[in-house]
Amino acid sequence: MKPLKQEFTVNFEYPVYFTEGLFEEANLTFASIFKENFAFKPKIIFFIDSEVYKLHDELLNQIEYYFQKYNYLPKLVDTPIIIPGGEVVKNDIQYLKEVYRLLEKHKICRHSYIIVLGGGALLDMIGYAASTAHRGIKLIRIPTTVLAQNDSAIGVKNAINFFDKKNFLGCFTPPYAVINDFNFLKTLKKRDWISGVAEAIKVALIKDKDFFDFIEEHAITLKNSSNIQPMKELIYRCAELHLNHIGKSGDPFEKGSSRPLDFGHWSAHKLERLTNYQLRHGEAVAIGIALDTTYSYLFGLLSKEEWQRVLKTITNVGFNIFVPELGKSLKNPNDQDSIFQGLSEFQEHLGGELTIMLLQQIGHGIEVNEIDIRQYQASIEKLETFSKELNENKQLQTI
Ligand SMILES: NC(=O)c1ccc[n+]([C@@H]2O[C@H](COP(=O)([O-])OP(=O)(O)OC[C@H]3O[C@@H](n4cnc5c(N)ncnc54)[C@H](O)[C@@H]3O)[C@@H](O)[C@H]2O)c1
Ligand SMILES: [Zn+2]
Repeated sequence: MKPLKQEFTVNFEYPVYFTEGLFEEANLTFASIFKENFAFKPKIIFFIDSEVYKLHDELLNQIEYYFQKYNYLPKLVDTPIIIPGGEVVKNDIQYLKEVYRLLEKHKICRHSYIIVLGGGALLDMIGYAASTAHRGIKLIRIPTTVLAQNDSAIGVKNAINFFDKKNFLGCFTPPYAVINDFNFLKTLKKRDWISGVAEAIKVALIKDKDFFDFIEEHAITLKNSSNIQPMKELIYRCAELHLNHIGKSGDPFEKGSSRPLDFGHWSAHKLERLTNYQLRHGEAVAIGIALDTTYSYLFGLLSKEEWQRVLKTITNVGFNIFVPELGKSLKNPNDQDSIFQGLSEFQEHLGGELTIMLLQQIGHGIEVNEIDIRQYQASIEKLETFSKELNENKQLQTI
């Protein structure tokens, strides 16, 4: 018998809004997502990051009032559910189970909406729950950290950590809509304010020289959370670059081995785990970028001047570029606690040939399929020396 063939195309489309004061009475951004004349009233359930809940005490009342005022909105089935923010929700499967339990309890179906409001970790976990319960429930993401607004919330990935590995369980499911409300950012801790800048530096370095120039020029102002304007511009451009890549690269669900947006990430994911998630994702990515940029320079791909500019920009924004956990990789690269073990984990996660993004120029990445561990060790040593000089406030000899 002749084999049969199945073929179809699915088109995905979702809006990414930018606003301030999302649940203020006069703000129609959220309400406009929903049709006014549902034939039947769908259900809606909110999951909110505990830190956001704590620091925005007006939020629950505002949501309740908003749903009373715009009474054509879907039916709010419960008061918003508060869930701890941070990596713990991706590491401890009990939280995922509790979300499934609530979805079942409230009979949330494929015509219902799940709203998740919080940092990237909560978004990843709720996203995973939303796309697996009933094989997929519509998800609206309301990210509240810089990193979530400029990167994680606007993409198509959802995940939890499993077997002590980052994002081991996950899926590619585009959201129904994303709403970035800049007002939430005002309560971020300093480290979470800058952490997301790492993803902007990443995408600028591999795709957009002008954007890197902007970050370099505003590095000191970006560090200062009292001035939100450059941060808004950074979030917008970074989100735009990520969306363009996902939508136009021809590989939104990452079937190939090439993963340019993972520049700096092979070591970052390992460092997050080696530090028991004491490092934020963005902080680890900043170190990963510093490392891969230094390697690109030592390997003869990148000029000394551009290498210096990248390291200075990363440190001017306020990132550390060295943590003691990196040092373990110098003694024995095969040790379980060496970041070089992250290389095989990275390859295993993506499948296919090992593909690492390096830098050829600011604004231009280049992929390689092999790396030289000794040169990487030399890069780690350079970062350590540089970091010491910076901490001791000495004149910088290294660069
Ligand atoms: N899905 C993707 O494509 C993708 C991309 C990049 C990163 N990620 C994931 O995102 C996670 C990191 O996200 P993150 O950087 O947002 O960190 P996070 O979610 O861990 O949040 C950091 C801390 O900030 C708190 N917080 C959140 N919003 C706040 C606010 N407005 N004010 C005060 N505190 C607030 C959280 O409760 C948490 O304690 C990692 O798990 C990473 O793997 C996913
Ligand atoms: Zn990242």
